[in-house]
Amino acid sequence: MLKRVTVPDIMEAKGERKLSMITAYDYPTGRLADLAGMDMVLVGDSLAMVVLGREDTLSVTMEEMIHHTKAASRGVERALLVSDMPFMSYQESVEQALRNAGRLIKEGRAQAVKIEGGAETSQTVRALTDAGIPVMGHVGLTPQRQIQLGGFRYQGKTVEAARILVEDAKALSAAGAFSLVVECVPAETAQAIADAVDIPVIGIGAGPHCDGQVLVVHDMIGLFDRFKPRFVKSYAEFWPQALKALESYRDEVATGVFPGEDQTHHMTPEELERVRRLLGQA
Ligand code: KIV
Repeated sequence: MLKRVTVPDIMEAKGERKLSMITAYDYPTGRLADLAGMDMVLVGDSLAMVVLGREDTLSVTMEEMIHHTKAASRGVERALLVSDMPFMSYQESVEQALRNAGRLIKEGRAQAVKIEGGAETSQTVRALTDAGIPVMGHVGLTPQRQIQLGGFRYQGKTVEAARILVEDAKALSAAGAFSLVVECVPAETAQAIADAVDIPVIGIGAGPHCDGQVLVVHDMIGLFDRFKPRFVKSYAEFWPQALKALESYRDEVATGVFPGEDQTHHMTPEELERVRRLLGQA
């Protein structure tokens, strides 16, 4: 039996070692992430874009998040499984947040939830942690607020903006968040945030000074054809390989090369003989 990564394990890693986190949305990506030894696996609401092909993350529903969290959880045996709370699944009231976070834990089999926002979400973070639901915060670029932010833009670029993010991070930590994601901020801002709190700060597009890193799996293995953010490093390019494979299959079906002898099952000679006899050909 594998030892499961726990929330205390994640918190104790701060200052000791760098944490790795990757997104997953189904059994294969969850299993791959787990086999690769990730500390945390995130069923991100990026699901809406890289899996469901939508323009942004705003329309993803609780039912979709639960469905994909369940699928990923079947592949994740070791890593801590975190699931994103979708846009407007926690903003209405603390009661709504408790109900929906509870569903991701009970039905989705997540072990923690992630919510986007700064100090204004403190009350929600406190209520969830009081209920025994570990919460990961998310500050900087918060894609669920991209309409308000004017798109997917870097945040925390000025001293004033960085200071607000530091205060947000402190408020989330004080409210009980066990870690937080910092997305798309200058490396210096991310460092100030990481230095200001005792919980691990996981960066994405936030430079090397964070306590860990997270990437969207489809971006880093090249399985998304629309765009790739500049901060993503390509560790593999599956899209062109997959396209080539599918084109070869289509050609081989058209020319009769597939299925070949290796992929074909025949009747035994005895059974074939019986068929011939039945057909009066023997
Ligand atoms: O939805 C997501 O994939 C995320 C990561 C970018 C952190 O929130």
